[in-house]
Amino acid sequence: MCPPRYFAVDYAINPWMDPSKPVSVDLAMLQWTELRDTYRKLGHTVEEIEPVEGLPDMVFAANSGTVIDGRVLGARFRAEQRQAEAEYYRRWFVEHGYRDVVMPTKINEGEGDLTWTGSVLLAGTGFRTDPAAHAEAQEVLGVPVVTLQLVDPRYYHLDTALMVLTTATEDRPAEVAYYPKAFSPGSLRVLQRMFPDAVLASDEDAETFGLNGVSDGRNVVLSAQAVGLAEQLAERGYQPHLVDMSELRKAGGGPKCCTLELRD
Ligand code: ARG
Repeated sequence: MCPPRYFAVDYAINPWMDPSKPVSVDLAMLQWTELRDTYRKLGHTVEEIEPVEGLPDMVFAANSGTVIDGRVLGARFRAEQRQAEAEYYRRWFVEHGYRDVVMPTKINEGEGDLTWTGSVLLAGTGFRTDPAAHAEAQEVLGVPVVTLQLVDPRYYHLDTALMVLTTATEDRPAEVAYYPKAFSPGSLRVLQRMFPDAVLASDEDAETFGLNGVSDGRNVVLSAQAVGLAEQLAERGYQPHLVDMSELRKAGGGPKCCTLELRD
């Protein structure tokens, strides 16, 4: 995770960002700290990277790479304003003992668009990550990749429209939640085929970034405003933990965007 010490919305690269509206660094820091402390309270280890002045979106650590079995595929950002983040994160991985760090040649916004289910890598495209990056991810990470086409600009990254609740094991498929309208008709059919029992999010829950949550298979940390989704998850036996990320949402991010999972 990366503290939002230099948080700002002074450019707009997604429909949530409005540079004419004020943002509060103090409130962003407070909400982010609560998110970090929620993970710690649940028994997870949180590593932090030093934020860099002039890189206001660096708080969205999910975009910095994809780590599976200790192998790291770094990031390459579409927007010029974010491009420098990739190198700071690459250095963090190298300095923290990751030996297998590969930087992509295609535009690849990390876990923003790449979601590991435990057996396949779901890979979003349409707004940010280049479809050619999907093949690159398959080659570098050595995992099968399934491409999903995003069609609604508000859900520009896959992690704003889909989350894995329980990863797949040898005898059980993954359980996921998603927002059907964010996907093209063909990709929706792929999701229905792969996950017939998925939790489907309502318009309201998607709009409050409910799908931008983080699950450890039991606890799901999600946006405080996604009350309907929290109820659905509780009915399935998950424990929802609500966190208010309203200030970071002004940049188009929620809890998951602020979190990169290190699968060592
Ligand atoms: N302002 C950032 C951008 O548009 C937000 C990134 C949110 N991250 C995510 N994983 N969805 O790139």
